[in-house]
Amino acid sequence: MTQRKSAVILGAQWGDEGKGKIVDVLSGHFDVVARYAGGHNAGHTVIISGKRFVLQLIPCGVLRPECKGVIGNGVVLDPMAFLSEVKKLREAGLPIEGGPGGQLFVSNRAQVILPYHRMIELAAENAPGRTKIGTTSRGIGPAYEDKMHRNGLRVVDLLNPSLLRTHINNACHEKNTIAHALFGTEPLDPKQMYEEYARAAEQLAPFVTDTAVLLNDAIRAGQKVMFEGAQGALLDIDHGTYPFVTSSSSTAGGAVTGTGVGPTRMGTVIGVTKAYVTRVGEGPFPTEINDSSAELLRARGQEYGAVTGRPRRCGWLDLPLLRYSNMINSTEWLVVTKMDVMDECAEIPVCTHYKVDGKLTDTIPADMRGFDLIEPVFTTLKGWSCSTEGVTEFERLPLLAQEYLTFLEKESGARIGMVSTGPDRDQTITLPAFAETLSA
Ligand code: GDP
Ligand code: IMO
Ligand code: MG
Repeated sequence: MTQRKSAVILGAQWGDEGKGKIVDVLSGHFDVVARYAGGHNAGHTVIISGKRFVLQLIPCGVLRPECKGVIGNGVVLDPMAFLSEVKKLREAGLPIEGGPGGQLFVSNRAQVILPYHRMIELAAENAPGRTKIGTTSRGIGPAYEDKMHRNGLRVVDLLNPSLLRTHINNACHEKNTIAHALFGTEPLDPKQMYEEYARAAEQLAPFVTDTAVLLNDAIRAGQKVMFEGAQGALLDIDHGTYPFVTSSSSTAGGAVTGTGVGPTRMGTVIGVTKAYVTRVGEGPFPTEINDSSAELLRARGQEYGAVTGRPRRCGWLDLPLLRYSNMINSTEWLVVTKMDVMDECAEIPVCTHYKVDGKLTDTIPADMRGFDLIEPVFTTLKGWSCSTEGVTEFERLPLLAQEYLTFLEKESGARIGMVSTGPDRDQTITLPAFAETLSA
């Protein structure tokens, strides 16, 4: 069977670029959508004919009944969060089932988040002397710590009651002792935890399988897989603005290790970028806006966290960071979202380079002190000052909006394949060359 073109789709910035909407639009062209990293720290919003869904763990593809969803081995899975998301989707009328003939599959090798992961994260984030990251408090970091320490519980072990009981007893003893000694935290009860998680395991069991086999079989049979990233490239544990990052490999490389599909089968890489930039939580942000324009973007773009409700920090497009992000991901196509949010900006500054000690540079510092020395160099483009909301053809965008996108494309090192002009599925422009790639 000829191999058809799969794709990795990921955030090019610090998350919340609108991946959910774009995965939903694109999933019509794919047979399977597979999440490869992160956990329920993600919040992916999809709006279909005015109805809003926020998916945290389950890939957005499942909103189309003909598309299969996979939660890969690279994900850290909170069983309670998973079951509550399945329940919500079923209540919305979607027939989400696992097993043969089902639509949703969970890797038997994914790591499990347990209550002590959240307990330790909350205590550590607020402890004196620790660098506060501003995490989503979902236990993501401590769960990945246990994975790398070879001390974690995998989904396959969750399904084995005697192993589960032993693991919870041992882990609670260790984590309760550490958390109490370091942070004075009250201990968690292992008996109650075992009972709750054994019950959850029974409900999870029908969804569990070897998803690496499932995905490779699908590709061999000529199906197309979309590898859905969570977070964004600049939150990647290796390549992001460390330590103000998440604990997983959110870059395109994570799709390989996080699903068990090799790099030659990935097809293409699609980066999603806002027409400006936002970030939630702490960490460097060279183009952050500190005047009333930030309020305008936040209000028009509804820039509040989909998971935590925190206001997102807003800034102008940062081309050095976008070029870096495109480089580390080998991004071939860009999707530019939230063009409509800038409809009222009379002028739009774009950072084209950085200046350090009076010299122009494109180097992205590896250490946080390096970011303090950066002076962003802006070029100001003229705003289009009219509505782009809902425009579905590039040629129908105001000329100044077309010029903004052409400039962005020229400077970013990747081709623009789609432009989003509103949160709904239909408020999207697909450029002809990209449409051709999608049909391959
Ligand atoms: P994700 O985490 O990358 O999936 O993004 P989020 O869902 O956390 O945040 C993106 C927000 O922007 C959501 O509320 C989307 O409904 C919304 N959105 C996506 N694309 C557009 C767009 O082109 N215009 C506007 N106005 N909103 C958009
Ligand atoms: P989506 O998939 C935006 C940020 C948190 C924090 C840092 C570490 O919706 O784009 P964590 O809980 O992961 O240990 O927090 O990473 N963060 C996100 N920011 N969008 C996300 O996901 C994020 N997931 C984590 O705010 O700064
Ligand atoms: Mg989000």
